[in-house]
Amino acid sequence: MRIDILTLFPRMFEAPFSFGIFKRALDNGLVAMKTYNIRDYTHDKHHTADDYPYGGGAGMVLKPEPIFEAWEAIKANASSDRGEPRIVLLTPQGRPFSQSVARELARERHLVFICGHYEGVDERVREHLATDEISIGDYVLTGGEIPAMVVIDAVIRLLPGVLGSEESSRHDSHASGLLEYPQYTRPEEYRGWRVPEVLLSGNHGEIARWRREQIIRRTLERRPELLDKADLGLEDKKIVERLTSPTKAGHQAQSDRES
Ligand code: ADE
Repeated sequence: MRIDILTLFPRMFEAPFSFGIFKRALDNGLVAMKTYNIRDYTHDKHHTADDYPYGGGAGMVLKPEPIFEAWEAIKANASSDRGEPRIVLLTPQGRPFSQSVARELARERHLVFICGHYEGVDERVREHLATDEISIGDYVLTGGEIPAMVVIDAVIRLLPGVLGSEESSRHDSHASGLLEYPQYTRPEEYRGWRVPEVLLSGNHGEIARWRREQIIRRTLERRPELLDKADLGLEDKKIVERLTSPTKAGHQAQSDRES
């Protein structure tokens, strides 16, 4: 996958992509990434990338010309066999980012990210250049760089070969639309807190059942709205019923306290 990033602060991208899984993906050639400084595509001697908003108001707006010209420079370099890229503008007004959006973007061969700043980006960039607008959540950050990193991270780890088999993304929280089960490693007992006995039992069937119940229990407690959207099997529905039926849930809580 090829990733191009248009930003006023290219150096912000140096650290996150210099370590671990990201670095390995770049070194192995699974991902080719390049940053473009929007300021390099300005033509005045002060390299002005922003200007006052027409109609007045607070803050500055990123000008359209350097952004379009940076994109044109990318396009001139892009090999046509990757097809048309998705051009993603990061903005709090965009489509909410989620694992399913990450999966959708991971199917592309070329992504371009435009990181906005100041009060925003000239509307013509949204209308005539961006193919997608993405928000990473209902809060406002100082710019689109961190949101771009978030999106890129979530996308890259889904690409075939990026995670080793040990790090597979198949069981991730949200991969199935539900939260993950709790994980433990050695020691068996730490400061008096024991690992649940079932995990030490070696009984794979029991372990799988316990984990499934934990997945459902956690999701029910923390993000019940996810269960409504999830594709639950018969066994899962029985677990939900058991955990939500008031009397049985009461017994369960009681027995949890006693165990
Ligand atoms: N730019 C500023 N805040 C943002 C957000 N929440 N998501 C995406 N881009 C942003």
